[in-house]
Amino acid sequence: MKIAIISDIHGNLEALLAVLKDIGHQRVERVACLGDCVGYGADPGAVLQVLRSEEIPCILGNHEEAAYDEAVVEWFNPQARAAIERTRELLSDHEIEAFKYWPRTMEVEGALCVHGFPPRSVETYLFEVPRARVAEVLEELPQSLCFVGHTHTLQMIAWDGERVRNYRLSEGTLALEDAKYIVNVGSVGQPRDGDNRAKYVIWDLENQNLEIRYVAYNIARASQKILDVGMPDICAKRLW
Ligand SMILES: [Fe+2]
Repeated sequence: MKIAIISDIHGNLEALLAVLKDIGHQRVERVACLGDCVGYGADPGAVLQVLRSEEIPCILGNHEEAAYDEAVVEWFNPQARAAIERTRELLSDHEIEAFKYWPRTMEVEGALCVHGFPPRSVETYLFEVPRARVAEVLEELPQSLCFVGHTHTLQMIAWDGERVRNYRLSEGTLALEDAKYIVNVGSVGQPRDGDNRAKYVIWDLENQNLEIRYVAYNIARASQKILDVGMPDICAKRLW
């Protein structure tokens, strides 16, 4: 079985549709989404509609949380705050209310999914957790594989019971060994890793490997729509 893990779409409909088209050619049986479906992008409502119609399960990201909880917005920088305020205007009350019921975690074929950091943090960034703490958390975690998003940067951390190893991931396939892993699947709609393509990961359960996929999409269209809808300019510029 192959499962596609996508994250941080951020209202970028063009990137999401390009990724789903690519997934359609990879003999993937299931797709799971790790949150931040909205915020920054021009099409939060259309993105939610596509995820619903494709029956893709989603967990809570900090931008969904910020859409209904003002206390979360206090942690946002001014641009992110302006973007979430515009995002609220673009969504219906019903869509915003529904975020309150999104789960913070889910399990997919024995793998834990959480937006920020295991076991259930929506807000913690992977890069801010000291190695010793990562080792503690992975040692205690019942699952041997945990997928996260949130940083918009592909990354993998392995714990073999003795040491923590940190890998920067890039396009291609890598084998999973006898270790516990946290895998950051990067971002579909708002990459921050120096490559402007959409990123996602396919987990192949039979062959125990991960395939990191980069997908080109119509950035010009997505960024123009961000400007047209009145999001902060930085949200459009960042896509390039
Ligand atoms: Fe995000």
